[in-house]
Amino acid sequence: MTRRGLYQGAIFVLGGLIGAGLGVPAAAYLLLGQKKDEDAEGWIDAGPLQALPLGQPTRLILERQRQDAWRRDVEKAPVWVIRDGDAITAFSPKCPHLGCGVSWSSEEKVFECPCHDSTFARDGKVEGGPSPRGLDTHETRIEGDRLWLGPIHEGEPA
Ligand code: FES
Repeated sequence: MTRRGLYQGAIFVLGGLIGAGLGVPAAAYLLLGQKKDEDAEGWIDAGPLQALPLGQPTRLILERQRQDAWRRDVEKAPVWVIRDGDAITAFSPKCPHLGCGVSWSSEEKVFECPCHDSTFARDGKVEGGPSPRGLDTHETRIEGDRLWLGPIHEGEPA
């Protein structure tokens, strides 16, 4: 084998490795598509039921993938979920007054808004403050051992 032949072979091998390094991930992206954590109607897989302690409001972070042509973004959104046996309630964390994030107070046993002191009972109803309605709720469904969250509905008027 000549020196020229050796260099040509090395260049072909190197080019093949670079091509495979770029081509395999691109082909996987195009052929396998995005992870299915959301169905066609916009319901989101919120994870396994076993991750939800019974009776305790639990803050989950939902991840929703947004596809815009070739660009894919992951949006993260919190939600408060309460599992009482087979009954699941999922509250939007946005205060209906001006949209601040509410959090559960284990001591007071209410959802509290830090902005203007609205408080909400464990069932989402307004207990105090300027909020015009209770916490908004997601539709829920259980598939196998997983919780799915659907469209949001407005809470009850105060
Ligand atoms: S934003 Fe929650 S009370 Fe005003």
